Amino acid sequence: MKTYSITFLPDNKTIEAAAGKSVLEAAAATGIAVNSVCGGDGVCGKCRVLIKSGKVTAKPNMFLDRLDIQRGMALACQTFIDGDVVIEVPQESRVGGVPQLATEDAIRYGSISGWVGEGALFPHNPLFQKVYLELPKPTITDCVCDQERLYRELRRNRDIGVMQTGLAVLQRLPDILRQNDWKVTVMLGRRGQTLEVVDVEPGNTAAYNYGVALDLGTTTVVAHLVDIGTSKTLATKAKYNSQISYGDDVISRIMYASTAERLTQLRDLVVNDINDLIAGLVVEARVKLHDVSIVVCAGNTTMIHLLCAMNPGNIRKDPYIPTACSPPTIRAAEVGIKINPRGLLSTLPSVASYVGGDVVADVLVSGMMRSEELSLLIDMGTNGELVLGNKDWLVCCSASAGPSFEGGGITCGMRATNGAIERIQLGKNGDVLSCNVVGGGKPLGLCGSGLIDAVAELLKAGCIDRRGRYDRAACGSRLRENESGGLEFVLFTGRETALGRDLVLTEADINNLIHSKGSIYMATESLLDHVGMTFDDLKHVYIAGGFGNYLRIDQGVRIGLLPDLDPAKFKYIGNGSVQGAKMALFSQEALLNIQEQIAGAMTYMELSTSHKYMNEYSSCLFLPHTNIEKFPSLLSGVQKEAEIGVTG
Ligand code: FES
Repeated sequence: MKTYSITFLPDNKTIEAAAGKSVLEAAAATGIAVNSVCGGDGVCGKCRVLIKSGKVTAKPNMFLDRLDIQRGMALACQTFIDGDVVIEVPQESRVGGVPQLATEDAIRYGSISGWVGEGALFPHNPLFQKVYLELPKPTITDCVCDQERLYRELRRNRDIGVMQTGLAVLQRLPDILRQNDWKVTVMLGRRGQTLEVVDVEPGNTAAYNYGVALDLGTTTVVAHLVDIGTSKTLATKAKYNSQISYGDDVISRIMYASTAERLTQLRDLVVNDINDLIAGLVVEARVKLHDVSIVVCAGNTTMIHLLCAMNPGNIRKDPYIPTACSPPTIRAAEVGIKINPRGLLSTLPSVASYVGGDVVADVLVSGMMRSEELSLLIDMGTNGELVLGNKDWLVCCSASAGPSFEGGGITCGMRATNGAIERIQLGKNGDVLSCNVVGGGKPLGLCGSGLIDAVAELLKAGCIDRRGRYDRAACGSRLRENESGGLEFVLFTGRETALGRDLVLTEADINNLIHSKGSIYMATESLLDHVGMTFDDLKHVYIAGGFGNYLRIDQGVRIGLLPDLDPAKFKYIGNGSVQGAKMALFSQEALLNIQEQIAGAMTYMELSTSHKYMNEYSSCLFLPHTNIEKFPSLLSGVQKEAEIGVTG
């Protein structure tokens, strides 16, 4: 097959690619992650690249206008190699760098104080322990075998049930014991009901025992390095999940992983991310990689399938059956994670295809399963997961919110990284009064919280009506028609942005957000209805998830994403995944609680079988809702607007 030379700028990386390969595939093969919210289906418009020279064949698309095409702009996934080419990948089309907010989140919400330790909820009883032993030497009257001698000493003063030791350890055991005067450190790892002698080290190494708590998200991977003996967090890091090049959401990833080769490819991408993070953590904390003994991972069901290279195909097919909700604890090296070669990988259990170990961890951290009072937990992302209940029962569901909270499907949407508007305040005619940009400087786009702010502020200013349509009179000169005939509002002109072009919000963008928020709100109402309760019965609402922590509750209520309740009932729980993983790592009792009292007790409700959800979803496609009575705190404002003829 004919191949051509492809050079990517400004990286100046060149590879040979076969004729007909897409620019997106060529970039991924070069290690350049291009935004591909839709996984290369040509429907998100986020993979814009600039063809500087050379021959390509491009399929028509609706995201580029005449001027863009004249400038050489193309969609990477819809453009195919037809000769030697030089391609520039602009900043806004790249996935990369550090997910700023996720990193801050990881640092702000990592504490487990009050959860594990003396006088806390769970005892300090780690999943992986190192025990120093000075064994009595064998004699003619004490002639048990080496393995039994080790077990006998371990069981002294300890309540240990079933134990096992692998052959590789037994093969080395006689020499290690005798060469070290019977003074050794035993590495003990919990694997289900069994305690495994994972390895035996010469001398006393018990003080050097570290673990990694992982939040394996569809968008970001967050890792905390912990000292298992002291329960201290030594370092934290986050990065984007490199699988993003193959789609932003779990469905795109599942579709991509349709062959064994591609499944392994996705597994390797995320394992490389995990290895990068761990390598950075040990350098920062001055810890030897060899002393990292265990990784405990909380992630959604699909991410855990991909990490373990288990076929995720049935997760997206009716009746949505995962391969396993509780994969066994395995050697981390089996999936390619680089820690101590005999170290372990443990994952938190899932409940169903769309309610994973990350949500189970959120529930643990919220404490809702210990309260008499009714609580609701909402984990917001491309999938919104909701859990309702109290100490006696828990019911959960998952709503497909679409990618708009992560900036997908939004003309100037982006993830919460440097350059993203995370907060914005607008005045009359939609004039910008203030704006917070992640990392400072000129804005590049809107992340989820910024998008919600912008729409809520435009609604408050009367620039959009309750259907999300622009009001020409109220918007003034900031409103214009775009090439596809739709209306767009210019939040910032090209001079004010780091984009080099205007930063706009189109009616189609607002419509996408309305669908996302409608899906979450309707799921909440359906879950309550399912158990015969109403919003009035709710005592606490916990907000979890990547962007959830940056969401302003009042703005969430204004657009109808969140129920109109007393603001004091809302509480952010931060990164529950990494916190839950950490608790499980430090306490076998916490893991048991996660397995039995949370995952094992949660009843899953499939929303597609809910008549209420199906029948009433369209009533949520208004700002905030067709029935404004459901939002009493907004009622007076809307009535006032109606009187002066602002609303549609
Ligand atoms: Fe190219 Fe979505 S349009 S990845």
